[in-house]
Amino acid sequence: MQSHSLPSSWQAPPRSGAQRWTLEQIDFSRTNVGAVHDVDHLFYLVVTASFIESGSDTYTRNLVAHFADWPEIADWLEHQWQPEELQHGRALRTYVETVWPEFDWPAAYAAFFDEYSRLCTVDELEDDRTLELVARCVVETGTATYYETLRDLAVDPVLADLAERIRADEVRHYKYFFRYFKRLREARGTTRLQVVGALRRRLIELRDSDTDVALRHAWQHRPHADAGDDPPLDQVANRLYQLLGARLPLDQAVKMLLRPVDLPHRLEHLIEKPITRLARRVLAA
Ligand SMILES: [Fe+2]
Ligand SMILES: [Fe+2]
Repeated sequence: MQSHSLPSSWQAPPRSGAQRWTLEQIDFSRTNVGAVHDVDHLFYLVVTASFIESGSDTYTRNLVAHFADWPEIADWLEHQWQPEELQHGRALRTYVETVWPEFDWPAAYAAFFDEYSRLCTVDELEDDRTLELVARCVVETGTATYYETLRDLAVDPVLADLAERIRADEVRHYKYFFRYFKRLREARGTTRLQVVGALRRRLIELRDSDTDVALRHAWQHRPHADAGDDPPLDQVANRLYQLLGARLPLDQAVKMLLRPVDLPHRLEHLIEKPITRLARRVLAA
């Protein structure tokens, strides 16, 4: 198969080849366990994120193979993006095990992974590589806004610091995917309508796939499941979605999502606010 190189005019973002931070830089012993331990929503927010991040090598493998004809992208995915996502998983897992040692993370993760790995197939990816990059921008927008919300909800400085480090990584991932998208779009003439279609497909999927699977397994393995006042899964899920829906920085998310559509500046400006309002209504429903 022919391999494509990106146009030489393109300035690749600097690649350090190493993560911006390491696990050793986070002093988990400073965690304020007492402040976080009984905050149910933090348990579910951190555990679900730890599952999805830890499972990311499954879909990275698929993605690297998907971009085999674009070696620069495949190389970045394999050597920069994947190690960073896996580090997010390790850091979040360490946090979970620091605050909730009674939670059996390996058993819960194994159950989650068994189901999740079957969802991560090449069929899930956009056939058109340019549009898959749009889908990746949607995912990174989702994670960036998620960690921003987690940072603001954190009642412990160690968790706030961790969420901020991860958020910054996700924003950087978005920037890479967006730049790669722009180059492929130029090379292949992807239309605005195609981009909107890919955005729509990925946004619909985002609502009810990965997070639901992760949350269900976190809930099934929750400590003290037999306590009398233990709320059912749908109640836990509703509370979480309402909490997130009210706090997610949607204006910023909408800006990030609209960028690949490449609308004339005035039009983009005009529709940003109504879309943000609509998204908030949909999330709160
Ligand atoms: Fe991540
Ligand atoms: Fe990411």
